[in-house]
Amino acid sequence: MLSGKVKWGDAAPLWLTCYIHISMKGRADHSTRVELNEAQKKLEKTWGFETRSILVGQAPDPATGSTIFPIYQTSTYTQAGIDDNKGYCYSRTGNPTRTACADVLASLENGIYAGIYPSGIAAIHAVMQIFKPGDHIISSSDLYGGAHRLFNEIMSPIGLSYDFVDAREINNITGAIKDSTRLVWLESPTNPLMRLCDIEAIVAEVNKVNAGRKDDEKILVGFDNTFATPFLQRPLDLGVDIVVHSGTKYLGGHSDVLIGAIVVKDENLAETFKYNQNATGNLAGPFDCWILMKGMKTLAVRMRQHHSNCVTIANWLEAHPKVKAVHCPVLESNAQHALYKKQMSAYNGMLSFEFDGDFDTVKKLVSSTNIFQLAESLGGVESLIGHPASMTHAAVPRERRLELGINDNLVRISVGIENVEDLENDLEQAFNAVA
Ligand SMILES: Cc1ncc(COP(=O)(O)O)c(C=O)c1O
Repeated sequence: MLSGKVKWGDAAPLWLTCYIHISMKGRADHSTRVELNEAQKKLEKTWGFETRSILVGQAPDPATGSTIFPIYQTSTYTQAGIDDNKGYCYSRTGNPTRTACADVLASLENGIYAGIYPSGIAAIHAVMQIFKPGDHIISSSDLYGGAHRLFNEIMSPIGLSYDFVDAREINNITGAIKDSTRLVWLESPTNPLMRLCDIEAIVAEVNKVNAGRKDDEKILVGFDNTFATPFLQRPLDLGVDIVVHSGTKYLGGHSDVLIGAIVVKDENLAETFKYNQNATGNLAGPFDCWILMKGMKTLAVRMRQHHSNCVTIANWLEAHPKVKAVHCPVLESNAQHALYKKQMSAYNGMLSFEFDGDFDTVKKLVSSTNIFQLAESLGGVESLIGHPASMTHAAVPRERRLELGINDNLVRISVGIENVEDLENDLEQAFNAVA
């Protein structure tokens, strides 16, 4: 039993017993952490983040002892008789590899349930699908471009309405609340200017409004935690209702999978997302779930190195005579440094800077690096460089871009975990190449 200090060696038999019991006998097809038994939940709560990222949901395979969780590459499950199965019937409804992947992430975000989706944008779409025509959503204006497109071009025509506000200023959010508002949608840090919003303060304001509302009219707070990951920031603990991830980025961490996730802490929301996922078939396959699970095992060590490299590069850039401005909250000079300290336990690898040069010079600069690779995306172990004005934000008219602060000379980098001096030298030689 669970008495005294819990050690992995002591715990394994208990865990294995629980696992066989839960996974192979008692688990429904759409099983989640909601159904984990109390002893297992209690045991996992004693584990730190790094331990949970490696062990939760991934007990040795009861059939073979395989230490690494298997990829259950099957669409269906043979049943002993009607109503006599091992907890799985059909892989749209449930797949053990997807369940294991979801269980790890739910644990890392301190949620009770995670759903794993084929991409980050598919997960955001699944969130939007719980609302109905006439519902109003307030979204931060500094938002992943694909979310903007989804909201404006797919969801608005079928009846959801959106207001986009600068979420750095809480009054912009409270001022936009209407009787029909059902969701506040946030990102922090944002792309490409790494702006933050005060999650706890926004939740507190939304809760004040909710206090006077009936249950079915309450406003939910949804949060895209892609940039921060649960290692740096856990929005559910700060009162957020729905967390979304593009696991394609830091969670996976190796630029080798397109995947997304939703995590919640409320049983009704968990049921809704579970039901909808089975009903719509909007889910990730077992191999992609396995890749994500593998990536999450090293999340903590990767994020520590991203942080360390990013702090070094940010300070180096700030001191460089060819750099006009650096956008990164780890810098003490950054206007949101205090909020960063309050809200995040450390930082990721994302920053942008303004180079002393025009549009064409900066386009040339981002093609002149050897280690930083010119590419979309972020969050992998390899360093990437990009020019928002001609890449991620090329579709935004120039005047609007400038209003948003996305200047022609802005360069975005995703600092990887390579040797940091190599990264500095690479940027220096690129700066010299365009001088
Ligand atoms: C913050 C953020 N959310 C969501 C997405 C969409 O994720 P995916 O590309 O996995 O669909 C992205 C992609 O860049 C992103 O940066």
